[in-house]
Amino acid sequence: MVVIHLLGRLFMDPLDDPFAAVEGALSKHRLGGNADCIIVDMHAEATSEKMAMGHVLDGRVSMVIGTHSHIPTADAQILPGGSAYLTDVGMCGDYDSVIGMQKGEATSRFTRKIRSGRLEPAEGEATLCAVYVEVDDKTGLARHIAPLRLGGRLSSCWPLEK
Ligand SMILES: [Fe+2]
Repeated sequence: MVVIHLLGRLFMDPLDDPFAAVEGALSKHRLGGNADCIIVDMHAEATSEKMAMGHVLDGRVSMVIGTHSHIPTADAQILPGGSAYLTDVGMCGDYDSVIGMQKGEATSRFTRKIRSGRLEPAEGEATLCAVYVEVDDKTGLARHIAPLRLGGRLSSCWPLEK
């Protein structure tokens, strides 16, 4: 199994080009060849950049799963070439918050435009956010993708048999 972590560039500090970087990684690892499963974590702010990466890698990796924006998206799908895709898996944390931070300071920075203290993590019950993917043993491509969410404030999704 190969795990590739990529960092996006849109709305983030300038970094190396993730589209070029992933080609370097994939030149060493081929699905159905020397890799039975390739997981790509696309850690990026912009949904467009994450979705573009999904299409660029479709058929060459098992899955492209987005992270960083903290909020789960509802677009889990198998792309036409057979790679599983999800724009953002969401955070594991307290959703009675502003992306995991306590609401008071986090909201006043928007309403008052001043910082009056440190951002502190919200400490209520967490929701576990994850994604369930079934991968074909022979091809390494995805057969099924579904969100998995458990506990806390978000509606639960449990794709596994109980
Ligand atoms: Fe991040």
